[in-house]
Amino acid sequence: MLKNTLKSVVDSVGIVDVQCSNLGNLLLQEQLKKSQTGIRMKNRNKQNLSYFSGLIINSSLSSLLLALILLSFVFLQTVSASEQKPTGPDLHKFWDKNCSECHGHSADFSRKFLEIVDGKLQGPMHKDSFKTFLNNHYIRRNQQEAIYDMLLAENLIEPRYKNECSSCHKKAAEFVRESITLRDGKILISKEDTPVSEFLESHRGLTTEDIEFYMALLTRVASEVYRP
Ligand code: HEC
Ligand code: HEC
Repeated sequence: MLKNTLKSVVDSVGIVDVQCSNLGNLLLQEQLKKSQTGIRMKNRNKQNLSYFSGLIINSSLSSLLLALILLSFVFLQTVSASEQKPTGPDLHKFWDKNCSECHGHSADFSRKFLEIVDGKLQGPMHKDSFKTFLNNHYIRRNQQEAIYDMLLAENLIEPRYKNECSSCHKKAAEFVRESITLRDGKILISKEDTPVSEFLESHRGLTTEDIEFYMALLTRVASEVYRP
């Protein structure tokens, strides 16, 4: 009875992929609680663009000024072309935008609900069909492989960053965005342009093994954030 009511409510807010289980119901309840506030701003870029073009059309810019603006566009594009373009969106932002509303933090979610069997991720409901499920579940812009790899990596390691570092630093992804740069596969401290490994040697009494662990972790998170 309750299940049916829940299902019809969920159907009416447009969620079709519903199955019944403890996890499902738990997530559903969470989701129902949050669905009122879950409306996100879309097309912000589009709005900005039309605002901008409106400005150009409405103002009485001389053609000289217009030419200058066009030139600076060309210049900006040349500059950004010389930097390496990311191969995808910041995965942690992607997760925060598309998944966290129902599943919370990705690593916590992965450790709590998913497990690795024969090297592959399985969910409480989708075992062999896990990847197929993921392909059809709230994923857009072909990020399913990257999300799968992230959940797998998070599942494989203990929450040491959370326990040993996050009392002083922000969440790993935020910390990386603010303080760490990825160049040619190596992580550097952004403000000094020096290797993170060197810094860690004299930080928090970390042992060689600890440093190896954190270098692997921060390098992975940096590739998820910067998507080289
Ligand atoms: C609006 C809520 C909602 C959003 C947003 C959402 N999920 Fe889910 N997710 C669910 C529900 C409900 C279930 C359990 C029912 C099911 O298996 O269909 C689930 C189950 C899962 C599972 C476990 C599968 C299994 O074996 O049971 C994974 C993994 C998952 N979601 C990943 C994601 C990812 C990745 C995203 C973002 C791209 C995402 N979800 C976005 C509601 C959501
Ligand atoms: C007790 C607080 C504290 C804890 C716990 C802590 N750090 Fe730090 N960390 C700092 C402070 C303060 C700085 C900046 C000042 C400095 O140079 O030491 C810093 C700087 C860093 C930097 C250089 C980035 C920058 O912009 O300065 C890295 C990398 C770093 N910490 C990694 C870690 C890791 C990995 C852990 C977990 C093992 C950790 N920290 C735990 C306080 C802490």
